Amino acid sequence: MNRSANTAASTAGDRMISIPDAPLETRHRILWGDATTLGGVAHASVDLVVTSPPYPMIEMWDAIFAAQSPEAATALKDRNGMAAFEAMHRVLDRVWRQLWRVMHPGALACINIGDAVRTIADRFTLYPNHARILAALVKIGFNPLPVVIWRKQTNAPNKFMGSGMLPAGAYVTLEHEFVLVVRKGDKRCFATPADKRRRQQSAFFWEERNQWFSDVWFELKGTRQHLSRSDRARSGAFPVELAYRLICMYALRGDTVLDPFLGTGSTMIAAMAAGRDSIGVEIDPSLKGAIHSGIDEMLAWARARIDQRLAAHNTFVAEREKGHGPLRHRNVYYGFPVVTGQETRLWIDRPVAVRSTGQDVYSVDYTPMNAEKTDPGGPKTKTAPTASSPAKPAGRRGRPKRQLSLPEF
Ligand SMILES: C[S@@+](CC[C@H](N)C(=O)[O-])C[C@H]1O[C@@H](n2cnc3c(N)ncnc32)[C@H](O)[C@@H]1O
Repeated sequence: MNRSANTAASTAGDRMISIPDAPLETRHRILWGDATTLGGVAHASVDLVVTSPPYPMIEMWDAIFAAQSPEAATALKDRNGMAAFEAMHRVLDRVWRQLWRVMHPGALACINIGDAVRTIADRFTLYPNHARILAALVKIGFNPLPVVIWRKQTNAPNKFMGSGMLPAGAYVTLEHEFVLVVRKGDKRCFATPADKRRRQQSAFFWEERNQWFSDVWFELKGTRQHLSRSDRARSGAFPVELAYRLICMYALRGDTVLDPFLGTGSTMIAAMAAGRDSIGVEIDPSLKGAIHSGIDEMLAWARARIDQRLAAHNTFVAEREKGHGPLRHRNVYYGFPVVTGQETRLWIDRPVAVRSTGQDVYSVDYTPMNAEKTDPGGPKTKTAPTASSPAKPAGRRGRPKRQLSLPEF
């Protein structure tokens, strides 16, 4: 991040003086290497981890685990499911220990993982990956926080497993995954005025809070549509929206987000879209093309997503004001009404350009922040919309004419 973006704030008592912040610039590095060592990632340099490891006991990942663990290879050959499960998790344990090293005290890690079911040696078994990983994280010293259940409903006719309509041999479907959330140590402190201001600017809307901080997520779309069939088959990619949401929930603009299992680059694309720095580590160099084409498509996705957030807010305000009367607060950058005082300095960084600044290193530029229009909690003023703040106060002007649809990503 261009740290000068933090320094433009100036206060006189409680009154904010209207000095526009410097435009944000973020930096993104792809490291081709092994997450069990995380070479190239400095101690205590990461503010948030968003990742999804290869899933133990899901067949598509057997070879990658066997290559990293002779014990896993032997157990698979011997058809010893539980021994293979444990050996694969020992590989992941080494990554979790590295996360402890590279995370700041107070930083959070969000780990997307699904359990596995598999029949080995005629025995159908659940391999509880989420429980094994959470136990390992707690053993390392991480503090567990409430998890998200990501419901991935399927209508496939073959989703039911086992003995059909006959009792005692049928099994419930596996239609959810988890996002485990853990913290290194105590809550993060925001001690300096610059950090406090950056935190306020990183706020999300009240109505987004109500949706994002619910523990079951239903409506996330699948993986990126542009991935080739072979990339898709071997990538296990999660939707960019999943990473984008977690990054907005748990990191500040300009923070550093790490994905130790970068895969096709979804976390990096989301970090670019959200105005956070990122580092991605990936062991399989054949994914380079998929990562780079994802970065090429980032700007279009980000702009559509940001327009959608602003339009959704306008729609929300219109509905809310119809039922409850005018909202009490007004955002100082956009001029639209918001529900709480915490949203008055909310700003959504809009990426305008991606530059390659070295081998597998990128910088992203964002539109400059609008000048502040008014004191938070002070008199409410109308603001002319600008290119970087296209939303209009919907409470006065009604619903946006059309709903923006997101490119599938
Ligand atoms: C489930 S995929 C991640 C998918 C990613 N979230 C996405 O959206 O594309 C797991 C990735 O971890 C990579 N991987 C496996 N073992 C690794 C290791 N030891 N170090 C770094 N990457 C590894 C695999 O090559 C694979 O791309």
